[in-house]
Amino acid sequence: MKKALSILLALVMVLSLCSMGFAAEEKTVGIAMPTRSLERWNRDGEYLQEQFEAAGYGVELVYSDNDITQQNNDIGNLIADGVDLLIISAIDGESLTQTLADAKDAGIPVIAYDRLIMNTDAISYYVSFDNYTVGVLQGQFVIDTLGLDLEDTSKTYNIEFTAGDPADNNAGFFFGGAFDTLKPYIDAGILNIPSGKTEFEQVATPAWSTDTALTNMQNTLASYYSDGTVLDVALCSNDSTALGVAQAITSDYAGDNQPLVTGQDGDIANLQNIVDGLQTMTVYKNVSDEAGTTLELGKAILAGETPAAELLENLSAEASYDTETYDNGTGVIPSYLLVPYVITKDSLDRLVETGLYEWDANNQYLVSTAATT
Ligand code: GAL
Repeated sequence: MKKALSILLALVMVLSLCSMGFAAEEKTVGIAMPTRSLERWNRDGEYLQEQFEAAGYGVELVYSDNDITQQNNDIGNLIADGVDLLIISAIDGESLTQTLADAKDAGIPVIAYDRLIMNTDAISYYVSFDNYTVGVLQGQFVIDTLGLDLEDTSKTYNIEFTAGDPADNNAGFFFGGAFDTLKPYIDAGILNIPSGKTEFEQVATPAWSTDTALTNMQNTLASYYSDGTVLDVALCSNDSTALGVAQAITSDYAGDNQPLVTGQDGDIANLQNIVDGLQTMTVYKNVSDEAGTTLELGKAILAGETPAAELLENLSAEASYDTETYDNGTGVIPSYLLVPYVITKDSLDRLVETGLYEWDANNQYLVSTAATT
């Protein structure tokens, strides 16, 4: 009788410790980011690690240098280490099927972070921004800034598109949102594309490479703008590509006007270009919101819950719960989507309010408050 009582007492103690969150100590989160060479992922990785460690979880954070084989090995190591949850931003959304089959076999839930992971039934949730809206914001910014009016075809403008990495499932959404928004003006002849490049595949930029975007824009300017044709808009899907495009424009383009240049991510060099007038806007996706949402979702999953729309009540950021849009090839993945917004020279202080940026000593340019960017 005494023995049974002592076992019961021990069981009650363990259960009460678990309920007090001590269980977090035993749980480890594996975080796989694509690369450090694209600035935003340093902020994502650092912030995710900070948030989960502050909540009492162990964290293993890996960066895979935009190398697909390395990312499969890195995630395989996290699985072998027995992590309790995987948070992955895929380099190539199509490349993790086998590795994540191992995660599923090991009973490890997976959150696809920012980029949807395709063709695997191992994905529990997807956390990102409404990436189609990112493109819509870029396209609408062009319409509003140039004052385009479908009723007035007297003024026409030349535009070129620079899209993202074909391996990144987000890139198609960014390009599609922008192109769909601008298509009525293209069809009306108000926006012309001298290069004739209207398809994603024609304007995609593998690995989101700044150098590739630079070379592609140099070739476009040399081929279609050397006769005095004026470039009015360079619609770039993100900041790393906008950096290359802006460099090509400043070095190779004789046009007097400074084309309108779009971007995304709020990278430091691009924010400086925005101050200097070499880029016109960036679409900002608040990393702390995306990481904070992932933290709340991860905590619920690790507590054995299966969250749905009710998780939104725990979030400090504005978000939506979507169970229709993101089919990864094995079925629709329940998704939490955050809201992106436009930043221009006049709204840079909004980035300071995130706590991730601050003004430099001369109050001229924004610098990152994160240790690694
Ligand atoms: C995308 C991401 C964007 C963009 C790009 C480069 O998947 O959503 O923020 O910057 O990667 O890393």
